[in-house]
Amino acid sequence: AIFGDERPNSKGLNMADLDVLTRLQTEMQQYLNQSWHACPLIGGERLHGDNVAAFNPANIAEVIGSVTNASDEQMERALQVAHAAAEGWNQTPVTTRAAALYRAANLMEEHQAELIAMLVREAGKTMGDALGEVREAVDFCRYYANEAKRLMGQPIQLPAVTGEDNQLLLSGRGVFFCVSPWNFPLAIFIGQLTAAIAAGNAVIAKPAGQTPLVAFRAVELLLEAGVPGGVLNFLPGSGSRIGRKVIGDPRIDGVVFTGSTEVAQQLFRGLANRDGAILPLIAETGGMNAMIVDSSALPEQVVSDVIVSAFNSAGQRCSALRLLFVQDDIADNIISLLKGAMAELKLGDPASITTDIGPAIDVNAKLELDRYIATMRQTAREVAAAPLPPEGRGNFVQPVAFEISLQQLPEREVFGPILHVIRWKAGDLPKVLAAIHATGYGLTLGIHSRIDAHIDWVKQNAKIGNIYVNRNQIGAVVGTQPFGGEGLSGTGFKAGGPHYLLRFSVERAISVNT
Ligand code: NAD
Ligand code: ALA
Repeated sequence: AIFGDERPNSKGLNMADLDVLTRLQTEMQQYLNQSWHACPLIGGERLHGDNVAAFNPANIAEVIGSVTNASDEQMERALQVAHAAAEGWNQTPVTTRAAALYRAANLMEEHQAELIAMLVREAGKTMGDALGEVREAVDFCRYYANEAKRLMGQPIQLPAVTGEDNQLLLSGRGVFFCVSPWNFPLAIFIGQLTAAIAAGNAVIAKPAGQTPLVAFRAVELLLEAGVPGGVLNFLPGSGSRIGRKVIGDPRIDGVVFTGSTEVAQQLFRGLANRDGAILPLIAETGGMNAMIVDSSALPEQVVSDVIVSAFNSAGQRCSALRLLFVQDDIADNIISLLKGAMAELKLGDPASITTDIGPAIDVNAKLELDRYIATMRQTAREVAAAPLPPEGRGNFVQPVAFEISLQQLPEREVFGPILHVIRWKAGDLPKVLAAIHATGYGLTLGIHSRIDAHIDWVKQNAKIGNIYVNRNQIGAVVGTQPFGGEGLSGTGFKAGGPHYLLRFSVERAISVNT
């Protein structure tokens, strides 16, 4: 086992233990009524401007703070400052860079209750999801610090003819533009920028418009941990406005993006059309994730894993299950168990430990999901639903499962608590996998079976980034389940995996005639 700074995974909390839970809730109390503020933070300086209010998605009547979105001048300033800081950071010994990230991990663990409270109130995360997210953010800091030391600590000595010395070095690229989504406003935000920083880059980090507050707090903690102000610059604001300015600017050297496939495609086009250097875009995007269940599967385990995979985080995970393919012999039984299990789900205030499912992130997301459900109710058979969401001003969406045919698969990702059930017949496994591949996405896939030949066949033939056998298909753990997809789901390499930092680096080969 590895202890100390380099330990691989952050410690959890057993929320089933009443003492532990009470301690956490008591500690969180002071933050649950607090008002937060986020603003551009450039070169270590907090900058001012017009404020807009931020709301609690579980109750949009509740203002939880405010954010100053970056002005054009502030964007220009961030580019200048990051560009000026990049080379010095790249020349800083990797052990020093790593030390700052280890301190950041420790600080985030110390501020666990505060960060959980922020995730609950700003992103509508349940307590369990919020804890998982803080742990993932901590893991990213330590993992990329360890990886940077492994990969960049010393040059690779290469074979050479007599009289020659050949070395291969990895170096930071310069300035990375980091663009992150609202659904992991802490973990993915932190994962992107710590990878870039560990590899020796300066960063301009743009949080999602819906979740700047927790991202801002995380930046404060990283600065407190010793990451220099010029190396980590924070620009809240509209994605398209900041994107337009930064992507076209010659002072950036790479882009890392996590979000929808459509925006990733826009960014690819923007990068292709800019003048100057050809830049890498690391993009982790959406999914149309399936689970294949054959007639040998254990129905109770299947349903328990379906509930977690499809409905945790209100289905707002890129990894979430959308298409449940069940062999027809057991389909009625699975649907009946699903109906019972969904009826038990509790939607409501994410700050309550008894809540299973929180709100959608904002009113637009709620309206879009409600519209999708209304259309499905006219065109497909509803087979199960959770109880109606609580009344009030939260963005709650009722979790629903519909039975559809193989010809009715949704054309694009539906980012919420909606499950599609499709029956398949013995012998049709290749047809099922072909239909999954035909969606173009390739993020997560679950298989439930006790037939080794089925499992092996799927493992060998599925063009999907993360495959989970006889378990749920969410919650990839840093360093254990490196995460990322293929096709419409992303470029790779995987976040939290041993090849990720290579995308943030350039390689230089040096041959010396001795
Ligand atoms: P989104 O694509 O709408 O936004 C993502 C980020 O891009 C935000 O910060 C947004 O402000 C910014 N943005 C939007 N337009 C931009 C532009 N023109 N230029 C630059 N930046 C721009 O996605 P979202 O709604 O925030 O997140 C949900 C999506 O993210 C889902 O599709 C989900 O599957 C995906 N996701 C993928 C992964 C993964 O690891 N594969 C993880 C989490 C979320
Ligand atoms: N990495 C996250 C998960 O696996 C998205 O659920």
